[in-house]
Amino acid sequence: MQNLIIKGGKRLSGAVSIHGAKNSVLPLICSTVLLTGKSVLHNCPELTDVYAALNILESLGLGWSMNGADIEIISKYPESAEIPESLMLKMRSSVMFLGAILSRTGHAVISAPGGCRLGPRPIDIHLSALKKMGANVRENGGKLIFDASGGLDGAEIVLDFPSVGATENIIMAGALANGTTTVYNAAREPEIKDLTDFLIKCGADISGGGTDTVVIRGVRRLTGAEHTVIPDRIEAATYMAAAAITGGSVTVKNVIPGHFTAVSEIFREAGCEVSFLDGDVIITAPERLNAVKSVKTRVYPGFPTDAGPVLLSALSVACGTSVISESIFENRFGFTDELSRFGARIKVFGRVAVIDGVSELSAAPCNCTDLRGGAALIIAALKANGESRIGNLCHVMRGYQDLANNLRTLGADIIEL
Ligand code: EPZ
Repeated sequence: MQNLIIKGGKRLSGAVSIHGAKNSVLPLICSTVLLTGKSVLHNCPELTDVYAALNILESLGLGWSMNGADIEIISKYPESAEIPESLMLKMRSSVMFLGAILSRTGHAVISAPGGCRLGPRPIDIHLSALKKMGANVRENGGKLIFDASGGLDGAEIVLDFPSVGATENIIMAGALANGTTTVYNAAREPEIKDLTDFLIKCGADISGGGTDTVVIRGVRRLTGAEHTVIPDRIEAATYMAAAAITGGSVTVKNVIPGHFTAVSEIFREAGCEVSFLDGDVIITAPERLNAVKSVKTRVYPGFPTDAGPVLLSALSVACGTSVISESIFENRFGFTDELSRFGARIKVFGRVAVIDGVSELSAAPCNCTDLRGGAALIIAALKANGESRIGNLCHVMRGYQDLANNLRTLGADIIEL
């Protein structure tokens, strides 16, 4: 499937179930390099990024199989410590294998990580932390070669920025290190605690997962375990935006309410009713949304950067002018040129988007440029009068399972080509 044809104007209604979180299952897969024996991960989403991570596992000599939403992984000492460049380039999060490979083998070779075009995605925070843990790093022919003969050593690490990936890498690096590693100013995203919960089941000695200070006491050996991946809070926010822009009423099932307080608050400010009932969130939108004067994306528990694009699409038809300020990525609004094809009136000044709400959007052909920007174009097409074609869906398939089917279940007129 490379294109969607969406006939907009349908008010969405009904219920949709959320899959496991992409940004949790990826580090969980990386962490199995630390283990010996069988692990089973339940509630895994079927995404191209997940297959990319499993292919990297396979290149290291670990075995895996998938049965619906269950992934079984057979961990052993890796046959290689190098991630093939072709696999590295498939997704940015492949850098998260670094800590686990280095901690397990004392060696690692990676190339510059790939991923979507959100701006320069450096790994300086990762590198600085691993050097503090005793790793030697050198560059050769576009590859980074890491050595920690004798294993990594525990260290006190203060992150300049609460990087999600760096926090996860350090946790995995510390799990088998000699001594204790303490991470200050750690990222607090729920996916971090999902990782530490799993590693503790595997025998790791970790406290503070999900808080700004994580303490990891290295152990000698970790074994496989069974774990259920937390639901995807960004997928949930995406369906909320679909309900909001179409003036619909949708029940988003299998969520953890505490994971998107900030998201719910913004949709309420835009005029939606948002309520929680037994692990579901119910959103009912007005005929037309109110503008939201100022939204700032922040690290958790603030409004998540990944939900910014779909919110921006919803606000493009609000009554009034909204402003979204992005604090995490340089090029988060790269998709707005494509969004303007629908008649949306967006002005972007660096990391600030000013959205002058219009009463109507018109169908247009457009192409996805990144994962969340692509989701935002689909959200806009649900509202646009006429038939829109959305291309380059490969970006969206990295992070959303069954998006078209689920939107069709909610009443959208969508054809996959
Ligand atoms: C994770 O990316 C998520 N990806 C992203 O989701 C998410 O947007 C991001 O966290 C923020 O919440 C996964 O979990 C797989 P960061 P990550 O390290 O780890 C800068 C999606 O759409 N930085 O917290 O890459 C970096 O340039 C994806 O699902 C450094 O400067 O995010 C960025 O500006 C997109 N040096 C900011 O920090 C570093 O060494 C946030 O990066 C590392 C990061």
